Amino acid sequence: MRALTWHGKHDVRVDTVDDPEIVNPRDAIIKITSTAICGSDLHLYDGYIPTMQAGDILGHEFMGEVVETGAKSTLRKGQRVVVPFTIACGACYHCGKQQYSACDNGNPADNQDIAQEMYGHPMSGLFGYSHMTGGYAGGQAEYVRVPFSDVGPIVIPDGIDDDKVLFLSDILPTGWQAAENAEIEPGDTVAVWGCGPVGLFSIQSAFLMGAGRVIAIDHFPHRLELAKRFGAETINYEETKTYEALMEMTGGIGPDACIDAVGLEAHGFFVDNVIDQIKASTFLATDRTHSIRQAIIACRKGGRVSMPAVYGGFVDKFPLGALMEKGLTLKTGQTHVQRYLPGLLNAIVEEKIDTTFLISHRLPLEQAADGYRMFHDKQDEVTKVVLKPGLDRVAA
Ligand SMILES: NC(=O)c1ccc[n+]([C@@H]2O[C@H](COP(=O)([O-])OP(=O)(O)OC[C@H]3O[C@@H](n4cnc5c(N)ncnc54)[C@H](O)[C@@H]3O)[C@@H](O)[C@H]2O)c1
Ligand SMILES: [Zn+2]
Ligand SMILES: [Zn+2]
Repeated sequence: MRALTWHGKHDVRVDTVDDPEIVNPRDAIIKITSTAICGSDLHLYDGYIPTMQAGDILGHEFMGEVVETGAKSTLRKGQRVVVPFTIACGACYHCGKQQYSACDNGNPADNQDIAQEMYGHPMSGLFGYSHMTGGYAGGQAEYVRVPFSDVGPIVIPDGIDDDKVLFLSDILPTGWQAAENAEIEPGDTVAVWGCGPVGLFSIQSAFLMGAGRVIAIDHFPHRLELAKRFGAETINYEETKTYEALMEMTGGIGPDACIDAVGLEAHGFFVDNVIDQIKASTFLATDRTHSIRQAIIACRKGGRVSMPAVYGGFVDKFPLGALMEKGLTLKTGQTHVQRYLPGLLNAIVEEKIDTTFLISHRLPLEQAADGYRMFHDKQDEVTKVVLKPGLDRVAA
């Protein structure tokens, strides 16, 4: 089959690779109909995630048709399914608490030691996301093997376009969980750093959960326009100082809840960000954490900080004092996708949530490398790239 494979920093290629096979009775094989490139994939593309190997198949946002099932799969051939990016067994201690992204059985990798050493525990399994998270082949391919297919995938009713439901695989539940973790009370003012897919879905979710105001922060005009479309007020941090603007907009109190949807590759020429950049480039640090620092400093006393954004390693200049002295709550984590699927599918069917606005480009799988380059280099207008195997080539 054809699949998008990783070969090093800024080097991804569509190669011919072996077809996946059923390995365990709970597996299913899915023929991919739509798969997306995620902001998290850019961390792989930029070479920030350890334990990648040349030839690894990327992709953790995908859906398709069931073409083969193991003896214990509950899926049937011909069903259309969306697959969560987190691989969870459904039976361990954490799955029992619906903390699927903390599953103890989804990651059988031999090289869990890095996570064990850095985080105190091994990480759960993820599709297409390094050998630290299981080394699973991802879904930016014609076919993919889905382990625990009786737990993860959600069956999509006929008549609903791929474009409407594809983002159930990751970014929609991620935006939802981000808003849930912000513990929004009716009328709250919520500030969201980053108007990428995760930030934009956090904004929609925050309003659905009763936020009175949402203030969105980014520097890309087009992305800020999309945030406005959902009713957010906006701050372009290249034109306005974020902290000062937030204080002015909230009468000096600060936002009730702050959501960091930026992550370890924060942009901007802020003193702390430049220091992070130098440290990262000399291997003295891993993450550029400007946005979470700023969210903690701007949040009102007694407020909540939600961090869906991905970070990987150790940081310094972290405002631990502000977190404690202001009595803030901090919640974070990879998304427990499976927990949110039925509710969010309903919200899509009932047209309470729109996901299709986000898709700026549809490309054939064969042009996946163009898709990565565009999503990386032209973030303003390229808000989300969806790859469809079999689509005709388009000018990119
Ligand atoms: N928790 C999870 O399970 C999960 C799932 C999916 C994605 N993520 C993470 O969420 C984050 C966002 O994902 P995405 O797909 O929206 O990524 P993205 O790269 O498309 O968007 C990030 C946005 O942040 C903006 N930004 C950069 N620096 C900023 C700053 N200093 N202040 C304000 N905005 C700034 C960028 O301009 C961009 O629009 C990433 O870190 C991604 O890895 C987490
Ligand atoms: Zn993703
Ligand atoms: Zn489990």
